[in-house]
Amino acid sequence: PAEDEARIDEIKRLLHERNAVLVAHYYTDDAIQQLAEETGGCVADSLEMARFGARHEASTLVVAGVRFMGETAKILSPEKRVLMPTLEATCSLDVGCPVDEFSAFCDAHPDRTVVVYANTSAAVKARADWVVTSSIAVDVIETLQARGEKILWAPDKHLGGYIQQKTGADMLLWDGACIVHEEFKARGIDDLKALYPDAAVLVHPESPASVVEIADVVGSTSQLINAAKTLPHGKLIVATDRGIFFKMQQAVPDKTLFEAPTAGNGATCKSCAHCPWMAMNALDNLAGALRDHSGEVFVDELLRQRALKPLERMLNFKR
Ligand code: 13P
Ligand code: SF4
Repeated sequence: PAEDEARIDEIKRLLHERNAVLVAHYYTDDAIQQLAEETGGCVADSLEMARFGARHEASTLVVAGVRFMGETAKILSPEKRVLMPTLEATCSLDVGCPVDEFSAFCDAHPDRTVVVYANTSAAVKARADWVVTSSIAVDVIETLQARGEKILWAPDKHLGGYIQQKTGADMLLWDGACIVHEEFKARGIDDLKALYPDAAVLVHPESPASVVEIADVVGSTSQLINAAKTLPHGKLIVATDRGIFFKMQQAVPDKTLFEAPTAGNGATCKSCAHCPWMAMNALDNLAGALRDHSGEVFVDELLRQRALKPLERMLNFKR
């Protein structure tokens, strides 16, 4: 539509005027992902978003995604202005892990190394020894386990359970979940596989164990897009937020992509597999943030310094 075109032109002009770069997650609207790409920004998984923002020389980062992604950018680049289209875009994992309860849980288990998923508040990260994203979680825990460390893991019980099962590590799990991935149903995927037996199943590890079990590939959003490219299969069933289809289909234009069903009857649900908080990012509020610096992210300096340590461990981690 013409209004979108006008907004896009305005955003491009403002990005330039404000010396800003757009860092977008794969689950945001196609138009936002496209803009990020066209203007020299990035479209990426949460680990790559953090790396890109920290390295980029722009003085302003515009983070289109959810709150923890903006906070992570600010923690890593306190000298930069970090803007988000809306500060209301949270995450069920973040909401389900309030810092007071989490700290009490850690205090009750002082013998455990505290590893938290990136999908947490700055305050929760500040209490952790390590932060990990889904792309390196298994590798980090394997390393800690080899050192004989026992783990306290929060907040995603599905991702935690998957890592535990993969590594055999001693992990105490917080009881949190992603409201989007939790909806995928193994039965529905099995029904789809019965229709397309030659399809591969790609699954984000925030999904329930029964879904992860039938996956050909389990990985972060970027890892799933890579898998789509490298797998020989012409048909792919994908269990993650449908925002990923924009880049995935571009990466494999000749392959057929199916949304993994979120209902047990095999019917795909067009509105279920989309994160309501990611969906809050729009061209309008993105332009607004750049125009008047609404949606600026601030992190208390003491908290920032404490949260920086486990984040730096994550960024410096090499297997
Ligand atoms: P990725 O690190 O795979 O991009 O995951 C972030 C996220 O919020 C998935 O729901
Ligand atoms: Fe959080 Fe799930 Fe949304 Fe990702 S998709 S931001 S884990 S609620």
